[in-house]
Amino acid sequence: MKNVERGFGLAAEAYELKSRQDAGGTEILKGFLRMNYCVVGLQWGDEGKGKVVDILAEKSDLVVRYGGGANAGHTVIIGDQKFALHIMPSGAVRPTTGCVISNGVVLDPEILIGEIDGLAERDISMDGRLFISENAHVVLDYHKMEDQLREDALGKNKIGTTIRGIGPCYADKIGRSFAVRMADFRDIDALAERLRKIVDYKNKVFGALYNADPIDVDALIEKCKVYRDRLVGFVCNTTRLLFEAMDNDKNILFEGAQGALLDLDHGTFPFVTSSNCSALGMGPGCGIPNQKVDSFIGLVKAYATRVGSGPFPSEQDNEIGDVIREKGHEYGTTTGRPRRCGWFDAVAAKYTARVGGINEIAMMHLDTLAGMKELKICKAYKLNGKETDFFPSDADELAGVECVYEAMPGWDEDLSEVTSYDDLPENTRNYIARIEEIVKVPISIVGVGPKRSQAIFRNV
Ligand code: GDP
Ligand code: IMO
Ligand code: MG
Repeated sequence: MKNVERGFGLAAEAYELKSRQDAGGTEILKGFLRMNYCVVGLQWGDEGKGKVVDILAEKSDLVVRYGGGANAGHTVIIGDQKFALHIMPSGAVRPTTGCVISNGVVLDPEILIGEIDGLAERDISMDGRLFISENAHVVLDYHKMEDQLREDALGKNKIGTTIRGIGPCYADKIGRSFAVRMADFRDIDALAERLRKIVDYKNKVFGALYNADPIDVDALIEKCKVYRDRLVGFVCNTTRLLFEAMDNDKNILFEGAQGALLDLDHGTFPFVTSSNCSALGMGPGCGIPNQKVDSFIGLVKAYATRVGSGPFPSEQDNEIGDVIREKGHEYGTTTGRPRRCGWFDAVAAKYTARVGGINEIAMMHLDTLAGMKELKICKAYKLNGKETDFFPSDADELAGVECVYEAMPGWDEDLSEVTSYDDLPENTRNYIARIEEIVKVPISIVGVGPKRSQAIFRNV
């Protein structure tokens, strides 16, 4: 490949090898196929992680959600069936794939139970294949309440959170004394006693600061009994489970949530989420070190989107953004909010690919750009009159940059039926090649539609 360092292209390679093996290939290929992947978003989330995880899950024994919570919304489309999963790993839609929710996740039991039931209604059982870490922290009603109260108090300066209680739950985890973990459901009486103290404290604080109505602790304890009844059977030590899986040469797929530009430490602070949602968060989120992952697959869209507040240099708050939103159905999977849309920001993608040690990129939604006469790629920023190709993650600094664009000719062809890379229009391939050149990571998977079948794997 011209001007791009040769990447591993492991996803494409293993996928092809496994397919050959399934078709009667040799045993020798097996060694090659012991692959652990991590799929992470490189933008502001919603890059298509659900779809890519679902595709790769075909060759995986376990899919692991290791961070975030029900702020995530991962879509999987199989034929005319659509699944929108918030907590459950996207591997769930494949009836025999093991699904792990590891320690780094902040787990909303109500939403998880809803997803287990929703899958059961569609004849997909999680019995015997869902494993929840005893160390996963639990999102309770008062976390969601605090999320809402804080956002309301911030007014026009709000973060634009999903109100899923993510920040307050992670804050309790860091603070330790008020934290509730899945392990705590094993002794409901002890948990009830602690909840009385925690809720008493929260009621005093929320009452004093926000004049909020008190939380009914008895009702909360009753809910926790239901959570215990429904979920304790799935609770285990997932780190041990993952060690054993690795010892037994299982293929593990780590499913990131959000996108690296929302990373608490490396994203556009303070307009971020409360976890390390870049690839750097994988190790602490599940107990498996990053070097055990054969390939980190960074997900991007062929353009950029963002939900919630915060700087977005390549945003097109105009007709172009509207066209992308309507063609790409860019409305939030979790909140239904219209997503802000803009041109592909290669400065940001280069930064997040580097932060995450990304080996290969999967670029979704190329089909969405069809019909646009001209496409623009943000290849540098102008900051205080000087050009830079480095991404300043501080929100104030980022708000002051101006994009330096490079224009590329678009294409009119409908890509949705294309199945081979070489059959993509020349302008599409040129667009991909130019982004590879700037970001310096090869693009090994290309999305041409929302369905499982609409992804093209490519050896790079
Ligand atoms: P995630 O949070 O990264 O899993 O992404 P979401 O599911 O929130 O949003 C991605 C949206 O794009 C979903 O509606 C997907 O069905 C859709 N999608 C994924 N890949 C493609 C693609 O290549 N083309 C089109 N048109 N839609 C896609
Ligand atoms: P997936 O996994 C897009 C955004 C919110 C808000 C900020 C903080 O589907 O890609 P939070 O509720 O986490 O405290 O909100 O982060 N956000 C996401 N945006 N996709 C997501 O997840 C997101 N998860 C959080 O909109 O701006
Ligand atoms: Mg999403």
